[in-house]
Amino acid sequence: MLRPIVLYPDSRLKMKSKSVTEFGPELKELAADMTETMRNANGVGLAAIQIGEPIRMMVMDEHYDQEDRGESQVLFNPEILEEEGSETTEEGCLSIPDVREEVERSFKIKVRYQNLEGKEQVSEYAGLLARCVLHEIDHMNGQLFIQKVPAVKRLFLKKQLDQLKKNFKEAVPL
Ligand code: CO
Repeated sequence: MLRPIVLYPDSRLKMKSKSVTEFGPELKELAADMTETMRNANGVGLAAIQIGEPIRMMVMDEHYDQEDRGESQVLFNPEILEEEGSETTEEGCLSIPDVREEVERSFKIKVRYQNLEGKEQVSEYAGLLARCVLHEIDHMNGQLFIQKVPAVKRLFLKKQLDQLKKNFKEAVPL
């Protein structure tokens, strides 16, 4: 089922998400909803808080470049064990439509997480997928990628964000 994406500047995007401790069947349904919502919006990753669920959970398409993307990856309570290198490239967020900015992130990461069965796993990711995991962990901590944009680039960004704030106010009756 498609779920509405929480849009900037909704205050829920500032929430710190809670760890997942119970791995019941409802999480499979939530993972399916998140995957459908992410793919429908042409995203590579999505954190649960972006559909209003404040839990440490994310989905990600490892095969984002293939026509048949197969199953999405579902990560619970992800924790970075190791980071290596750095890369600065454009990044976007489904909660902040049409805003893209260059952000510096680690190029390679090793991450520990739990899968849909609650089983602990360790995976390594590089490039876009590493960037995606780091971006979604930021969401779980109430952080957005626009906070990582260097000060010199903030003026243009501010205009775009002000427009999003204006649209948000007009769309949500007070
Ligand atoms: Co995002």
